[in-house]
Amino acid sequence: MWRKIFGGGKHTPVSDEGDLPSRSIIDRSTMPRHVAIVMDGNGRWAKERGDSRSAGHEAGARTLKRIVRAASEMGIEVLTVYAFSTENWKRPHREVDFLLNLFDSFLEKEIAELHAEHVRLHFIGRRDRFTERFLHRMEEAEVRTANNTGVHFNLAANYGSQDEILRAVRSLAARAAAGEIAPEEIDEEVFSNTLDTAGDPPVDLFIRTSGDLRLSNFLLWQSAYAELYFTDTHWPDFTPEELAAAIEDFAGRNRRFGGLSAEE
Ligand code: FPP
Repeated sequence: MWRKIFGGGKHTPVSDEGDLPSRSIIDRSTMPRHVAIVMDGNGRWAKERGDSRSAGHEAGARTLKRIVRAASEMGIEVLTVYAFSTENWKRPHREVDFLLNLFDSFLEKEIAELHAEHVRLHFIGRRDRFTERFLHRMEEAEVRTANNTGVHFNLAANYGSQDEILRAVRSLAARAAAGEIAPEEIDEEVFSNTLDTAGDPPVDLFIRTSGDLRLSNFLLWQSAYAELYFTDTHWPDFTPEELAAAIEDFAGRNRRFGGLSAEE
């Protein structure tokens, strides 16, 4: 059971399994602070069952709920998931509408529970193509959960990393042109804090489900030294146990950040 390998997060609820072990296999020093997930494979999951793509997305939403809760219990600081890319507008209207309605009802139904579980919700991506109603719900959810101290849950909606980087470049260029910042003051930290993920640590563990081996324009700057974990599991079948397995795998990686390992 995945709970057995973690010391538990700040808000670990009391579970049926009794107290968590005092000595855990994964300790704070080997725990990823920021986990990013490309939730791929809803369509393939549904197809394998002879079901509609919509049913796959609905199952994906249920998985997301379980994974956010597990991430919070495990003590992950930041969880960023890719829900809708700037390129996903190319999908058939029917599927786009279905996904946007699903996000809207997810927010409506789940926000109270997420809030009660201390989750801090934040949206990353462009906000210029959503309906007023959805924008309002997004902002309301962000304001309501802003002071929560549990997992920081970033939902990437209408997000593309290249678009995010360009928006940051334009904003810094405008500030430089206005004399508010000197070009030589723009360093990695300033740039990171101009992105939608401002204030978050860089991605430590980047997970992609459903077998494809690519980054798909997700968190390219933030993942400069991320460890990559690919699994064939379709997103609806992804479990807290598999998240725990990815974290255990991460804990065994030798991260050198361009330097040498301690023994060397
Ligand atoms: C990729 O599967 C998934 C998406 C483009 C949408 C992600 C959405 C969810 C996980 C639904 C829940 C999200 C929220 C925020 C409620 P795909 O459709 O590309 O699958 P395929 O590659 O097998 O066709």
